[in-house]
Amino acid sequence: MTTAQWPGLFISFEGIDGAGKSTHIGALAAAFKAKGRAVTLTREPGGTPLAETLRTLVLNDAMDPLTEALLMFAARRDHLSCVILPALARGDVVLCDRFTDATFAYQGGGRGFDEAVLKQLEIMVQGTAGLDATLLVQPELTVWFDLAPEEAAKRLAGARVPDKFESQPVEFFRRVADGYARRFIAEPRRFARIDAGQTQSAVWQDVHAVFVAKGWLV
Ligand code: TYD
Repeated sequence: MTTAQWPGLFISFEGIDGAGKSTHIGALAAAFKAKGRAVTLTREPGGTPLAETLRTLVLNDAMDPLTEALLMFAARRDHLSCVILPALARGDVVLCDRFTDATFAYQGGGRGFDEAVLKQLEIMVQGTAGLDATLLVQPELTVWFDLAPEEAAKRLAGARVPDKFESQPVEFFRRVADGYARRFIAEPRRFARIDAGQTQSAVWQDVHAVFVAKGWLV
């Protein structure tokens, strides 16, 4: 299930660390507001006081892969029920910096954690109780900033102090990028793939064009 059944619009943004999504998410928020839309700008892991506490733990503390996956989904559950679903019910445009594709890419691809277990957790957290278990709350559009891991590593070098994920070697990000590619191949209609290796203004033009083509920013 997409969120089309709600008056709001649920959009997520994905990519490996260094892909440069943040500036464009901010610009989209401004563009939607200029059209008179209410915008909920949020992120994962995080977006609620509880989920932000979990974010601090999961981005900084060492833990086994199952604990890491469970904390990502625990944060997501709180975020969905306290922020995302109420915002969609109000009619907001929800711009979410990362969502479940990140768990499949980082914990599944990067860490090599069992994707069948992630799938079960996805159904538990995003499933609609009492309905078909394959019906999940999912973004209507996922903008994927696709960047070569070697290029992302260059961009990250010398930037701020890296967190637990940012300090992983380039091989980790190759597996994360492959994880994103698998999600894209499985659900191509949900994704807009953006070549994030271009200049910032060319990336913005491509991102903006996707939203115009959807009829959301005309
Ligand atoms: P990020 O979104 O890049 O925020 P910032 O720009 O502040 O660094 O950082 C979140 C990190 O968490 C990123 O490295 C990806 C990771 N992550 C996962 O490993 N699994 C998940 O499910 C999510 C949502 C994020």
